[in-house]
Amino acid sequence: MSVVSFSPKPVSTSVAAIASQAFEVRPFSGAVGAEIIGLDLSRPINDRDFARVHRAHLDHHVVVFRDQRITPEQQIAFSRRFGVLQIHVLKQFLLAGHPEILIVSNIIENGQSIGLGDAGKFWHSDLSYKELPSLGSMLHAQELPSEGGDTLFADMHKAWDSLPEALRKAVKGRSAAHSYTARYSESKFEGNWRPTLTPEQLAQVAEVVHPIVRTHPENGRKALFVSEGFTTRIVGLPEDESKQLLDELYAHSVQPQNIYRHQWQAHDLVFWDNRSLIHLAAGCPSHLRRKLYRTTIQGDAPF
Ligand code: OGA
Ligand code: MN
Repeated sequence: MSVVSFSPKPVSTSVAAIASQAFEVRPFSGAVGAEIIGLDLSRPINDRDFARVHRAHLDHHVVVFRDQRITPEQQIAFSRRFGVLQIHVLKQFLLAGHPEILIVSNIIENGQSIGLGDAGKFWHSDLSYKELPSLGSMLHAQELPSEGGDTLFADMHKAWDSLPEALRKAVKGRSAAHSYTARYSESKFEGNWRPTLTPEQLAQVAEVVHPIVRTHPENGRKALFVSEGFTTRIVGLPEDESKQLLDELYAHSVQPQNIYRHQWQAHDLVFWDNRSLIHLAAGCPSHLRRKLYRTTIQGDAPF
């Protein structure tokens, strides 16, 4: 008589492999940007899928993940896979319990702004006023207005590639100063949402100097790295010459053929590369509620 021996299944101590998700990267027809369809950021992302997202981000500079039902914790965890997160100087607008998230919102509750109401009213690259500016930022839509509220992105690699020879010569080897307070109190939309900075906050945003033309550390391409939001002057030029040159660079950078205009859809998560693009908030009527959560990933010192 044969004995059938039953051995219990060994208890596995290794974590089960994460399955790949079937998703598509669809480039937009215009200047830059791609949509990522079918990737669910609330599920674990394996290394292969992460590498595809990383590649799409480098190739298209701004990627739009549709319909993401994710929590702040999940946005933070996904952002961290790209690097260290930066905490914004406006502490009063950080999400309670999650300082890695900056609330971008025009909503006023009990007479107080709940978030940064006019982030991006001038073209800018996030945190270019820091020694280590941002690699990229993610904005996740929480509440969207029924009209307006678009975000525009301009390709600064294209701006450099198409820069007329005279302007190339004029900026060759030059650096520019960047400051968070450059246009801090200027109101462009209805109302002025900016809180007065404390001395401690001012100390965190002392002026920095960066090259006007930077090399992207991952794709190797050159990009213009000045913008009207935070750049204050070109080092070593008289003020009028500096202003004229900067104005020409700004006008050249934001020509229509270099721009992608993002019209937000519910639950969009948009992830852009601050080393390749500058961006702008188009604004919306102030009585319409708009709220987004931003995470900001630290990048390298520009070179
Ligand atoms: C930002 C920003 C633009 C917008 O959050 O960094 O510039 O449309 N936002 O809200
Ligand atoms: Mn911004």
